[in-house]
Amino acid sequence: MSLRARLTGFGSYLPKQVVTNADLAERIETSDEWIRTRTGIAQRHIAGEDETAVSMAVNSARAALAYAGIDAQEIGAVIVATATPDQCFPATAVRVQAELGMAAGFAFDLTAACSGFVYALATAEAFIRSGQVKKALVIGTEVYSRIVDWEDRTTCVLFGDGAGAVVLEATEEEGLGILSTHLHSDGSHGDILYVDGPATAKPVLHMQGREVFRHAVAKLSSVVDEALAANGLQGQDIAWLVPHQANLRIIEGMAKKLALPLDRVVVTVDRHANTSAASIPLALDEAVRDGRIKPGDLVLLEALGGGLTWGSALLRL
Ligand code: ACO
Repeated sequence: MSLRARLTGFGSYLPKQVVTNADLAERIETSDEWIRTRTGIAQRHIAGEDETAVSMAVNSARAALAYAGIDAQEIGAVIVATATPDQCFPATAVRVQAELGMAAGFAFDLTAACSGFVYALATAEAFIRSGQVKKALVIGTEVYSRIVDWEDRTTCVLFGDGAGAVVLEATEEEGLGILSTHLHSDGSHGDILYVDGPATAKPVLHMQGREVFRHAVAKLSSVVDEALAANGLQGQDIAWLVPHQANLRIIEGMAKKLALPLDRVVVTVDRHANTSAASIPLALDEAVRDGRIKPGDLVLLEALGGGLTWGSALLRL
C-alpha cells in the first residue's frame, strides 16, 4: 500500500484592519475604479504592529489543528511558506513550533514567493509519502505591507496581509489526498518581480506588472494542463479551482481555459488582495468552512510568483 497525504484541517487568519480602495485613493493617486477594473480588488487586510508573520501563522495553525481534531504534539513537521518573515532566522516555522508547544518534530521555512504554498504542500507531501512524517502543518503567512513601497501606486494597491494553514495526514486510502504536484522555476526572469536589498536594509518590492501578467497566463495554463494530463482528467472533471489570488483577470482566464464556470472557482482577491503564499490556504479555508468544497471533491490549486516560480497540485478532499 502506498502512502498519500490527505488534507484534514484548515485554518486562516486575517488582520483586523481593513483598508479599502477609497482609503488608498486618499493617500496616493489612484481610484477604486482603476483598482477594481484592473485587478478585481476592493479591499485588503493590513497587519497592525501586534500582527506578525509568526502570530498570524500561529493563529491559522491553531484553527487548522482544531478543525482536524488533533494536538500539536502529533505534528511531525511544520513547513512555513513566506517571503516576509519577521526575522532572517530562526525560521518562522520554529517560532510557530515553539508557540504551539511542540516538543518534537522539525520545522523550516520555504521561499517561493506567491507559489510558496504549492511548493510547501509538495514538500510536506514528499515527507509523508516517504513515511518520514505522519502528520504535517503547512502554512502560508505574509506581511507584504512591510515590503511594499506605499508611495508606488503600481504595486502597493495589489497586496494584503494574512495567513492560512492546512494539516496533512498520511492515509493508505487510494484516490484520496494529494494526487500529484507539479513545480517549476525559471531564474532567468528573476528581475521582473523581486524584493531588493540585503536583509538589514528596508526591503522594497519591485514588479514589471505587464511582464508578470504575460508569464502568468502562459505558465499557469501549461502547469494546469500538466496536472490534468498526469491524472488523465479534463478541466470539467475539476469540482473546484482554488487559484493563487493575484488578479481577477488571470483567475477568469484560467477558469475559461478549464471550461469551468466562475461559481466553481474560489475567489477571495476582491476582499484579501494578493496575500502571496497565504492566498491559497486562505481561500481553501473559506470554501471548506462555508460548505462549498466538500469531502470527496477534486480540487486544483495553481500559483505563480517571483522567481519566477510556478506550480499546481491536484487533490481529492
Ligand atoms: N492607479 C491608477 N493608475 C495606475 C495605478 C494605480 N494604482 N497603477 C498604475 N497606473 C497607471 C500606470 O501608470 C499606467 O499609466 P500610463 O498609461 O499613463 O503609463 C496605466 O495605469 C497602465 O498601467 P499598466 O501597468 O500597464 O496596467 P496593467 O493593465 O498592466 O495592470 C497590473 C497592472 C494590475 C499590475 C497587472 O499588470 C497585473 O496584474 N500583473 C500581474 C501581477 C501578478 O500576477 N503578480 C503575481 C505574482 S506577485 C508575487 O509573486 C509577489
